Amino acid sequence: MCGIVGILGRGPVAGSIIEALKRLEYRGYDSAGIATLENGHLARRRAAGKLKTLEACLAAEPLSGASGIGHTRWATHGRPTESNAHPHANGKVAIVHNGIIENFRELREELRGKGHKFESDTDSEVVAHLFADAMEGGLSPVDAVAASLPRLKGAFALAVLFEGEDDLLIGARDGAPLVVGFGNGERAGEVYLGSDALALAPFTDEFAYLEDGDFVILSRHGVEFRDTHNQRVERHHMRSPVSALLVDKGNYRHFMAKEIHEQPEVVARTLAHYLDMSAGTVALPFALPADAAQLPRLTIAACGTAYIAGLVARYWFERFARLPVDIEVASEFRYREPPMERGGLTLFISQSGETADTLACLRYAKAHDQKILSVVNVPTSTMARESDIAALTLAGPEIGVASTKAFTCQLALLACLALAFGRARGVIDAAQEAKYVAELMAVPGLMAEAMKREPRIEALARDLARARDVLYLGRGTSYPLALEGALKLKEISYIHAEGYAAGELKHGPIALVDNDLPVIILAPHDNVFDKTLSNMQEVAARGGRLILITDASVPGDFSGEVEAITMPKMAPNFSAIVYAVPVQMIAYHTAIFMGKDADQPRNLAKSVTVE
Ligand code: G6P
Repeated sequence: MCGIVGILGRGPVAGSIIEALKRLEYRGYDSAGIATLENGHLARRRAAGKLKTLEACLAAEPLSGASGIGHTRWATHGRPTESNAHPHANGKVAIVHNGIIENFRELREELRGKGHKFESDTDSEVVAHLFADAMEGGLSPVDAVAASLPRLKGAFALAVLFEGEDDLLIGARDGAPLVVGFGNGERAGEVYLGSDALALAPFTDEFAYLEDGDFVILSRHGVEFRDTHNQRVERHHMRSPVSALLVDKGNYRHFMAKEIHEQPEVVARTLAHYLDMSAGTVALPFALPADAAQLPRLTIAACGTAYIAGLVARYWFERFARLPVDIEVASEFRYREPPMERGGLTLFISQSGETADTLACLRYAKAHDQKILSVVNVPTSTMARESDIAALTLAGPEIGVASTKAFTCQLALLACLALAFGRARGVIDAAQEAKYVAELMAVPGLMAEAMKREPRIEALARDLARARDVLYLGRGTSYPLALEGALKLKEISYIHAEGYAAGELKHGPIALVDNDLPVIILAPHDNVFDKTLSNMQEVAARGGRLILITDASVPGDFSGEVEAITMPKMAPNFSAIVYAVPVQMIAYHTAIFMGKDADQPRNLAKSVTVE
């Protein structure tokens, strides 16, 4: 996704901003820009293309301000042109933004109505106008930001510079990373903002990370963090040498926690790669196999959590593309030696792209005249190389052994694929595509919102840590997610757990229900919610302990005790991506209460390259 930087320096900062942007170029490089305060006035240089174009532009027309912000872009809304490049500015405010502002259309209309003029096709520009509008209403820059942030829906990180305010820089984060750097030694008094600490490593080794919902007010004389309620908060300062930053846990205790929290950002990045967000369409960077319209069926093979992603996707391929799906774990598939119709399409899903069983299936399918489509996270992997089409999840390196962000990125990409097949097969029309794309675009913001349930989940996990067994139930796409919940809990806490289709409860597992068995029910408000509710009644009637994860309200006449994790309201089609967040957090916090190593659970390996 995009990379952002901000510096309040002791001398001209343009050179340092470029240096930091170079370290962020891996996040995006279709255009870049910088704004500084020149004698109190906002001045910008922006350029389409890689950073060197911006550097040439600065060489021709230098900026000398001591306060500035910079951006390297990875386009989501609007083409990578100079006018769409950040910073966006309007004479009062300049901003750089990473993420997606979901409700930008409503806000833009409202602001246009008040006379604001927009110059770009981006969602980001609305933020600059929103802040400026609040200031025109008489608020100070800090109060304008505090009053406006709650109006932004989506996942974002921001850095903001104000006309006439040479000693003020504001940062904000909700679902996308942002870190503050504190200058020391020769750079004492300087302060920095960056998308990651590595970007700021040339200037300092002292950092403090913002938490979701925070904003931060930087001046050369001090830094003040405020939380989502606009209350002053302290954020932990840490020292990290550059070598440590290369594989950095940020302010998280474990990579798994960091990777859970990265999800709004990496899912947004993956979606942006496979959708045209401005047009509201799927836009795959490769052509579907020529016979997509005639394809009789799709075969999917994968292992572990990647297999569960395939189970979720089966619902989507069948629903949106009316494409029958055969899915199997790779270790069974390869030895079953299934007959395969000539010219069929087989889909492999793998984070590493190296899992031995999945790779063996890929080679088997290839030998049987199948077109090979793989969803992989490591672009240089064997599976990526040996596939006809390698569709990349843009999760970034996943270090925690238990897969989290790779899983939700796989889901995001598989949802895009299912919609693309739906269009190719004439099952969904342009209006339906636009509706589903809008639902997908809302997912990163909903995930960021779901993250805010963490304190509640932590409290529940304290109790779960005492359980001997845990049962997960769900219907529809929540059924495979129940399997994933049980798998995650088993892998990292070693508590025995089972995932079941809620309707299967009475065919066996109900025999296990007693006062001691926690039953976690994944129940988004979808067309089978009432049926899941009946299954809950069956558990309640037997004294079972219910933990309900839902965005629906539990009817007043429900007879049992329920502990609820209330999720943000959403259209249910892609709820599996959002509900993965509490499912992962439950496993993580339970393991932590039990003193287990969440990153390196016993007996497991990240990449299983043996049978
Ligand atoms: C291992 C990992 C799992 C992963 C599975 C498949 O078991 O611990 O997290 O889901 O392998 O790996 P892949 O790289 O093919 O997705």
